[in-house]
This record gives sequence, structure tokens and C-alpha cells, in this order.
Amino acid sequence: MAVKTVKDIDLKNKRVLMRVDFNVPVKDGKITDDTRIREALPTITYILEQPGASLVLMSHLGRPKSGPAPEFSLKITADRLAELLKKPVKMAPDCVGAETEAMAKALKPGDALMLENVRFHKEETANDPGFAKRLSAMGDVYVNDAFGTAHRAHASTEGLAHLLPAAAGFLIEKEVKFFGDLLANPEKPFVAIIGGAKVSTKIAVLESLLPKATTFIIGGGMAYTFLKAQGIEIGKSLVENDFIPTAKEFLDKANAAGVDVILPVDHVVADEFKEDAKPEPVDGRAVPAGKVAMDVGQKTLALCKDKIANAKNVVWNGPMGVFEFKAFAQGTLEIAQAVAGSSAVTVVGGGDSVAAVNQFGLKDKIDHVSTGGGASLEFLEGKVLPGIKALEK
Ligand code: 3PG
Repeated sequence: MAVKTVKDIDLKNKRVLMRVDFNVPVKDGKITDDTRIREALPTITYILEQPGASLVLMSHLGRPKSGPAPEFSLKITADRLAELLKKPVKMAPDCVGAETEAMAKALKPGDALMLENVRFHKEETANDPGFAKRLSAMGDVYVNDAFGTAHRAHASTEGLAHLLPAAAGFLIEKEVKFFGDLLANPEKPFVAIIGGAKVSTKIAVLESLLPKATTFIIGGGMAYTFLKAQGIEIGKSLVENDFIPTAKEFLDKANAAGVDVILPVDHVVADEFKEDAKPEPVDGRAVPAGKVAMDVGQKTLALCKDKIANAKNVVWNGPMGVFEFKAFAQGTLEIAQAVAGSSAVTVVGGGDSVAAVNQFGLKDKIDHVSTGGGASLEFLEGKVLPGIKALEK
């Protein structure tokens, strides 16, 4: 899939209306991770360097229920962007309306203006054409670099692309390239590491990657539904009983296709799912009665590391264990280290595995760490992302 990029359209003397995903985590009024702002910088800087061009930025933040709410104001992101750019970023009172339009029209070449949260208007998520039209008054051309929101067909992510000359920014271009290459014709061995709590949220990814991957590593809570599907005792580990037939069917299909599936062969368990629970190693596939599996064990990790070390492509989505509890983070840490150390093309997507890679300080050793949670999952599921489809060449 090829998208039109900022380099394909003329930005000279243009007011550029750019959709970014500044939906960043905020705690006590402070941004706790500004990755999404930093990742938009290459496109922002490029636009501001074009002769005569000015920039109007828009985004959502959180999921405000009904109209404007101060805790969802984008002002903190405008301030952070100003720090990173080392230049002022003006803040508009709204994303549409006469006052905001006047501010946009008054911009001088090189100026940047941040619009207020597009989700303060319910018409945004409804992809209301009238609302998209009002947004379109803010710029001459439309650039979308909000990969994290590309799976949403909203006015600012999809509707606008039909109203103004439209192109992708460099972040969307990069995300599409890494995920697109993985899905198109991945060089083998291709190892897909899929973890996290639930089979229900990951089964579509497993199915989509089944014809492409040579090895699946299944970890995290979801692995225990697969083990139970194989008739293995799982103690009181997490399980989705409704998904046991689905898990069994997937394992049968993988087996028939000659695709390797690595499931935990040993574990770190606890009496209870608690941060201060005592970790106990368990050798063997069965989890003792009364125990809950919290992490994969060393034998499992050895099997995984061997596959990762010999891979040409690795994609990782979802943690191997309860990594947010220090005593049960080892499996996720060692997988992250193996991925970081691999000479394969490595792609990490999905909120929790990205958080893990960041927490372990390994981000720079991975070829591509996606800014998309839901968007990267849907991309891997083989779904068409409406925000990207609207930018196709
Ligand atoms: C995300 O964080 O996944 C994106 O910003 C999309 O947010 P949403 O799930 O509220 O649409």
C-alpha cells in the first residue's frame, strides 16, 4: 500500500492543517510519555521549513464524554511541543468557529497553532461531513500523521482527506512501511510473538499472521487458554473458556500448515495475582492446582530466544507475563532483550509491549516501535485502516 506523503504535495505558501495523535498519557496534569509528540516532529519541522508555510495542528486527547472538559485540553501538548521546537505554539480556544478561524488565518509563515480537542464536538467521532467542512476552513491542505488514530474513521482522520488536498506525514509513512512489509512478503523465518491477557483480543492477529509466520510464540495470560485447549492443567491461571475451541482450532491449523507454536513449557507461578506475591518456578507444562501462572519460565525463554536469534523478521505484540509486577517481569524483559539483540527486522506494536520496551530502555535497539495501540493491532489483523486508506495514492 502506497500513501501520498507531504513530499508529494506542494506546501509552499500554504496553511497546513495537520492531524496528529497527541493522545498522550497524562498524570496529575503532566505528560508522562511524550513519544507521540516527538514522533510527529519530523513532519512538523518539515512543514515549518517550507517557504511561506504555516501549521495548524489538531488532535484528540482521551475520550471526553460531553463537550469541553479542562482535563482533556490539548494545551499541555502545545506547551510540550513548544519546548521541543524551541518556539511558541499558539493555543486556540476550540477546533472550529470564528475565533479559531481568525487565529488560523492570522498565522505568519513559520507559525504554529494548536487547535483544541476535536472530541469536544460529538460530530468528530460521527465523521459528520458538516463538521469536517468546518475543520477544513482551518487550512489549505491536509496532512495526517496520526497513525495511532488511523483505525478510526472520524472527521479529522478520514472525512477531511476528501475535502482538502491530502497527504500522509513521515510517521504514517514509516508505520505503513514497517507493518506493510511484514504483511506483504516477509523474509523467513518470521517469528510472531503474541502475548497479553486475552485470546479474544488477539485471535484475529494470530489468524491473519498464520499464513505468513513460521513460528508463533504465545505468552501472557492468553497462553493458558491454549494450554487448557491441549488438556493441560492450568491451576487458577487466567482462562477464557469460551475461546478454548477457537484456541484448539488455531493450534490444529498451525499444525496442519507446519507452523511452529511455542507455548509455555514452564512457568513462574504465585498463590494469588498480587504484586507482592511470592514467585515460584514450576518446571513442566502443568500449573499446580491452586496456583496462578504469572510469567513464563527459563526453559520457555530458551526456546523463544533460539527462534528469535535465527529470525529474519520478528513482530511482537503483548507481554509474556505480568511485567508491571517486578517479580514477574523477567520473561517480558528477556524477550525484549532477545528482540533488541536480534539481527532480524524487529517491529513492536501494541501499548503494553511498547511500554515494556520503553521501561527496559531498549526502544533504540528495535527497528520500529509503533506509536499505535489499537491501530497497530488492526493493521496486523489485515484490516484496512480508514485514515490510511483515505491517503492512498
Ligand atoms: C490510541 O491511543 O489508541 C489512539 O489515540 C486512539 O484513541 P481512541 O481509542 O480513544 O480512539
